[in-house]
Amino acid sequence: MQNFKMLSVKFMSKQAEGILVMSQDLADYLEIVEDEYLKLHVGQLLEKLKITVDKSSKNHNTIYLNPQLARALYLQNGWKYGYRGNREELFIGPVVGIMLEESGQRDKPFGGQSFFVKQLLTSGRAMGELCFAFSPFRINWSRKTVQGYSYGERGWSKGTFPVPDVVYPRGKGYSPQKMSIRRRLETMGAVFFNPGLIGKWQTHRILSQKSELLSYIPDTRLVKDFAQVDRMIKKYQAVYLKPVTGSQGKNIVRVHKTKDSQNYQYQYQMNNQSYRGSAHNLAQLRSYLRPVMGNKTYIAQKQINLLQSEGNLVDVRILVQKDDTGSWKVTGMACRVGRKGSITSNISGGGSGRHLETVLKSKFPDEEQRIQICKELQYLALEAAKTLEESIGSSGEMGVDIGIDKNGHIWFIEANLRPARQIFSLIGEKETRKLSVDRPMLYSRYLSGF
Ligand SMILES: Nc1ncnc2c1ncn2[C@@H]1O[C@H](COP(=O)(O)OP(=O)(O)O)[C@@H](O)[C@H]1O
Ligand SMILES: [Mg+2]
Repeated sequence: MQNFKMLSVKFMSKQAEGILVMSQDLADYLEIVEDEYLKLHVGQLLEKLKITVDKSSKNHNTIYLNPQLARALYLQNGWKYGYRGNREELFIGPVVGIMLEESGQRDKPFGGQSFFVKQLLTSGRAMGELCFAFSPFRINWSRKTVQGYSYGERGWSKGTFPVPDVVYPRGKGYSPQKMSIRRRLETMGAVFFNPGLIGKWQTHRILSQKSELLSYIPDTRLVKDFAQVDRMIKKYQAVYLKPVTGSQGKNIVRVHKTKDSQNYQYQYQMNNQSYRGSAHNLAQLRSYLRPVMGNKTYIAQKQINLLQSEGNLVDVRILVQKDDTGSWKVTGMACRVGRKGSITSNISGGGSGRHLETVLKSKFPDEEQRIQICKELQYLALEAAKTLEESIGSSGEMGVDIGIDKNGHIWFIEANLRPARQIFSLIGEKETRKLSVDRPMLYSRYLSGF
């Protein structure tokens, strides 16, 4: 981990509230003159303070505050924080809020995401960030504060925090109400880590406008009627039908038709059960698929003839993230192997993880070809992220699903704006997992100008 500039905050009870005492080295660095006024920012909170310089040379990078004032800014005695500034303003933090739904459980305030959130908070703290996790419904707008949770040696603790510099949304997406909360936070000055979620159709449309990416994108249509699905089946024999806002492999249908048969064979997974069947004609197919497809909007996509491992399908998850310089990096790549008989590889649907190297070695004996595939995988993931970002707005990370077919050709499957990183733990890549947690906190520094 890089060594970031940090300062220590110390409480001094006898000190007047309107004064900030700072060590000489800090005053020199900020080019601050004694008795001038300085705006001290912690997240969206602000105090105008008069500067006194502590000329004794024994203290370094320290500021001293009246305890009441420090508490009003939600700073802790003896803690080290990152900082940036000049002679007029000093910013402490950054203040980073992870925004997601609360579960109501004491030991796991954010349900299944608690472990991940705990790791994010620990990582951010080590970088001198003032970080916490919060529900969008716990904001005190007039005070510019948030009720949330921090995580430390004593576990989870509830607390009040300033409205943050950066919000890292990890919730289930945006209802209109949550969207308006987001807008309000942005108006106050908070910067969001990621844009709102987009569906698979929008993703497809954006990427297929980029000529460099066209050869990687499987033929995809928005499903308007089943006649169109039929045309796709005639052309490709097998197609995937996917809900545009779906995830975790849920409600995905595979339909195929062999050349010599009149019947449509279909398969889908719903509520962890696998369903298969056949339909004699299109009307029957439509009615058989109604329980899974309902009124949801779907795309139809040509089937990619993915690599297989012992008959189970294999694809690649690539996590691309921005770092503290704001540039896109590949954090990790891993293969997912679908459960026996499954039409998807998703971990949540029973898939397992595998090292990319292991899979590639078993399928492509030629080392040159393996190197080429790895390069292309990285290129496609990074290009997809950059291209999407141009249309949907600044993003901090994406989990890109990519298929490799038997010829070694690679295919874009989808991009997730709330990517899981569990796969790296599953295959024992502890360092990748750690990096995947550190990077959002690093990028948060960049986003807030630290
Ligand atoms: N066109 C396709 N051809 C072959 N397999 C596919 C295709 N589309 C999806 N899959 C399989 O289904 C999985 C889930 O699809 P994906 O588009 O990523 O949806 P989700 O958002 O539910 O994860 C993919 O990881 C892949 O294993
Ligand atoms: Mg996926």
